[in-house]
Amino acid sequence: MTNPVGMRRTLTHYGDADFSVFLRKAFIKAMGYTDDALERPIIGIVDTRSGYNACHQNVPDLIEAVSRGVMLKGGIPVPFPVVSIHESFAHPTSMYLRNLMAVDAEEMIRAQPMDAVVLLGGCDKTVPALLMGAISANVPAIMLVTGPMLAGSWRGERLGACTDCRRFWSRYRAGEINDTEIQEVNRELAPTIGTCSVMGTASTMALATEALGMMLPGGACVPAVYGERRRLAEQTGARAVELAAEGLTPDRIITPASITNALRVVLAAGGSTNALIHLTAVAGRAGIKIDLDGFDRLGAETPVLVDLKPTGQHYMEDLYKAGGLVTLLRELKPLLTLDCLTVTGRTLGAEIDAANASFDQDVVKPLTDPIYASGAMAVLRGNLAPAGAVIKKAAADQRLLQHTGPAMVFDSLSDLAARIDDPDLDVTADSILVLRNAGPKGAPGMPEAGYLPIPKKLARAGVKDMVRLSDARMSGTAFGTIVLHITPESAAGGPLSLVRTGDMIRLDTEGRRLDLLVDDKELAARRRALPVEAVEKARGYRRLYLKEVLQADEGCDFSSFVPDLTASAPIAGK
Ligand code: FES
Repeated sequence: MTNPVGMRRTLTHYGDADFSVFLRKAFIKAMGYTDDALERPIIGIVDTRSGYNACHQNVPDLIEAVSRGVMLKGGIPVPFPVVSIHESFAHPTSMYLRNLMAVDAEEMIRAQPMDAVVLLGGCDKTVPALLMGAISANVPAIMLVTGPMLAGSWRGERLGACTDCRRFWSRYRAGEINDTEIQEVNRELAPTIGTCSVMGTASTMALATEALGMMLPGGACVPAVYGERRRLAEQTGARAVELAAEGLTPDRIITPASITNALRVVLAAGGSTNALIHLTAVAGRAGIKIDLDGFDRLGAETPVLVDLKPTGQHYMEDLYKAGGLVTLLRELKPLLTLDCLTVTGRTLGAEIDAANASFDQDVVKPLTDPIYASGAMAVLRGNLAPAGAVIKKAAADQRLLQHTGPAMVFDSLSDLAARIDDPDLDVTADSILVLRNAGPKGAPGMPEAGYLPIPKKLARAGVKDMVRLSDARMSGTAFGTIVLHITPESAAGGPLSLVRTGDMIRLDTEGRRLDLLVDDKELAARRRALPVEAVEKARGYRRLYLKEVLQADEGCDFSSFVPDLTASAPIAGK
């Protein structure tokens, strides 16, 4: 017996399958469909438009173009809503909600009849959430991102969200620009709809998704407001109908090798540290574990080639004009596994060979002349991070990568906010700022608070960077000598909970170590003296979240949603 297709898929249970189809058709006919239309393959289109999400404001246009592509190939497009998350409109954090969106996407794809699904997202958490849901549902799926916004301009200088948001806010805090000027900058940071214009998490995840093979070639970089973005949408819709006929499901595309390709692209792009957490969660849904030490080795042999902010100077529209992701893939070819299948039904290597010819450009550097020779990121271990921590070396003040200094500890985000600008704060440029209780459970939701502000009195004295440590994340658009994702987090009993102001901490990036220079006996005594935290009586989603959320090294997914991890990535390099 063949599997049911179209309207006969995933029937509502009434105990009589024919009645279920009869009833379903009665209701959908209220929207004007003919029987002929209802016999066609159904392509679900995830609708993530929200009045709170500027990154997704072109979603209605894209749905129209996807639908056109679906119908040109003889399918029926059916948009349906799921949760939409924007970074700046998600309390307490967008990360707290990513798994909610993944659950929503998975169950709506599974519950409703669709022979394939177009995943339409863009803002940071939406792409990983949709991939996680689609992998678990394992229906033929193809990703279309909303595309990056264009760069802005202030007094002759190019600007973009959100590296320049942070840069100008730091200048404002340091008294270098005034109230009027910061307001002028505010109007130019996001001059159009679309995702952030630098190599932040959204751009990184778009590149990673194309490298993974879940998006049409060329799909990552086209700006949101370009006609080409709509043409891509039409092509995506058309391809979705073919995917449905071929039954090409995500489990054939997401493999240890394709995950490794995606990680290489993240590293070579100087991408966001958040992508490591998201790809760990995406891989986890496919039963693949990302090995952090393997990722570190991958970093050592993968140079940074893409010259985009925050590590470089350009914006996403420049990478698009430089040929898009394939310009980078061509350079990385000797390091990639080329026989990975993609949503086109062809391999990654075949797609690279079929792309337009290369030309002179200055956004993607050749492998022989990288921007940063080895690894944008490094994984640290040590007595402060037994299960790992990550540092984005490429975005750090290189002089601080080897540094020992006294800790200034902040117990929470509110403690940080209350004291960081206190003129009497006992800090110098050599101090190491430590933030705890900002991890997956502690905050909760692992906020992008790892970019601790430079204390005002030091900023005004010209200090631009300091070593900063936390169990939080950091926006991919930020920069500095910042150690993130310290695991286990302090709220889960990690050693970060034992640090006291004045303790010496050693950051040894070269040796991949992060150590608290306090002897074991003293640390054991401090652990015994820790107060017993009352268990929070949470309800609803918060209760589910606190019970289920995993640590950063496991992608912060919900434990019940991750199958047994039977394979691991990165796979052996070449
Ligand atoms: Fe949506 Fe940056 S806020 S991509």
